[in-house]
Amino acid sequence: MGWLDGKVALAVGGGSGIGRGVVEEFMREGASIGVLELNPDKCAELCELGPDVTVIQGDATSLEDNKRAVQKTVETFGRLDTLMTFVGIFDFYTPLSKIPEDKLKAAFDETFETNVGSYLLSAKAALPELKKSGGSIIFTVSTSGFYPGRGGILYVASKFAVRGMVIQLAHEVAPEVRVNGVAPGGTMSTDLRGLKSIGLNQRSLGNAPNREDDLRSRTPLRLAMRPKDHAGAYIYLASDRARGITGMIINSDGGIGVRG
Ligand SMILES: NC(=O)c1ccc[n+]([C@@H]2O[C@H](COP(=O)([O-])OP(=O)(O)OC[C@H]3O[C@@H](n4cnc5c(N)ncnc54)[C@H](O)[C@@H]3O)[C@@H](O)[C@H]2O)c1
Repeated sequence: MGWLDGKVALAVGGGSGIGRGVVEEFMREGASIGVLELNPDKCAELCELGPDVTVIQGDATSLEDNKRAVQKTVETFGRLDTLMTFVGIFDFYTPLSKIPEDKLKAAFDETFETNVGSYLLSAKAALPELKKSGGSIIFTVSTSGFYPGRGGILYVASKFAVRGMVIQLAHEVAPEVRVNGVAPGGTMSTDLRGLKSIGLNQRSLGNAPNREDDLRSRTPLRLAMRPKDHAGAYIYLASDRARGITGMIINSDGGIGVRG
């Protein structure tokens, strides 16, 4: 028996990295899953996962596309129990001093529209169905939602905002819906892209040199975590075993908080 037998989830931004790893582990635990993904090539690869996945190509910064994803998931699998958001964009540690004055507003808008605004729109679109099922939301935060230095000013600020949304939305939608977060630490084998507005969109965090050694040396548990290492946290929060848990964030990061 799986932890998620009979459950239906929607993963927004589940085409690569952490989201893709979580999608595969949700299927292994018995869930059916819709995936809203921007990149057509990643959509095609998701379709190969079989009939327990339905793929919606679209943009999570559009309310209409989020609504379409909810509708297709419910049409295909009959209900929606869990919304998970994985969409993200990175600033590659750019400090405020290095963001040109004439690009600051655009860089702020791009970061917050993607990392914060899309989560708000996904939640708005999914809440009517989640209220019907007594379901839950799981937002992807980051160690950057807790500590400085693992992103620049814009990324860290955006992840603190996601952390705030977990707490406030959990307050607003109880008792019908639970809202929690997972805060992954630096992760191998992802494709996290940079901000277009400051010329970083061709960079992918997955290609960073010496990433495995770098991640191991920074974590007390000496781990270079991979997407599937975080999946257990999402599975637990989506399962009935977490039915009394809301407004909480699981830090899946190799122990950054006890680094000292
Ligand atoms: N990689 C890390 O080390 C790390 C660490 C902590 C937190 N995170 C967070 O985890 C989440 C997933 O990151 P990842 O590293 O797996 O990145 P990723 O780029 O591999 O995955 C994100 C997915 O979202 C898709 N996407 C991007 N914009 C979209 C949009 N507007 N609409 C629909 N889909 C869109 C991308 O195509 C991609 O498939 C992000 O929120 C990121 O901030 C990542």
